[in-house]
Amino acid sequence: MANPKAVAVLVGSLRKASFTRRIARALADLAPSSLRLDFVEIRGLPLYDQDLDDEERPPPEWQSFRERIKAVDAVLFATPEYNRSVPGVLKNAIDVGSRPYGKSAWEGKPAAVVSVSPGAVGGFGANHHLRQSLVFLDMPVLQQPEAYIGSVAELVDDDGNLKSDSTRDFLAKIMARFDAWIDRVQR
Ligand SMILES: Cc1cc2nc3c(=O)[nH]c(=O)nc-3n(C[C@H](O)[C@H](O)[C@H](O)COP(=O)(O)O)c2cc1C
Repeated sequence: MANPKAVAVLVGSLRKASFTRRIARALADLAPSSLRLDFVEIRGLPLYDQDLDDEERPPPEWQSFRERIKAVDAVLFATPEYNRSVPGVLKNAIDVGSRPYGKSAWEGKPAAVVSVSPGAVGGFGANHHLRQSLVFLDMPVLQQPEAYIGSVAELVDDDGNLKSDSTRDFLAKIMARFDAWIDRVQR
């Protein structure tokens, strides 16, 4: 079999008991063996400041993040919704990866967006705000299935175990479709 495709997983929540991280881990567990998922942590990225790029003294955390993103085949974004948008920590990571101008680490990489919320709407606002940035970054985003994981407290327990086969099937379907999407974009 060919080498597995490398997928960076970015989680937009920093809290220990994050539902979003639990869902991201389940997605990784359910991914086909043709994908290798690698969680890229964004907590330690200094806030984006364009002066540091303009003066050619980017923080080392930005540089290693950019290199890690450049090295992968695709990116899976798992995000909670904050005030109907994407948490600042995730937007900061996107901004850091997008610069310096003309050297974006994201360009052309296939992506998938999974939004997660204890609420009924499933983070729809965050999901689509994120998609807006991905259009500008020229990242072809998986269109279907759309993944708005609502009422998440009913779907996963404290240890991250999924509570139903239908949730497991849906998350597995997302990853199978993402795998096929990456192939299609890379062709
Ligand atoms: C600053 C803030 C804003 C929030 N805004 C929303 C929102 O717009 N929509 C929503 O469904 N939940 C909102 N929530 C609730 C989050 O969905 C909830 O805290 C969720 O557990 C966060 O994801 P996590 O478990 O992965 O950390 C907000 C939470 C915080 C802290």
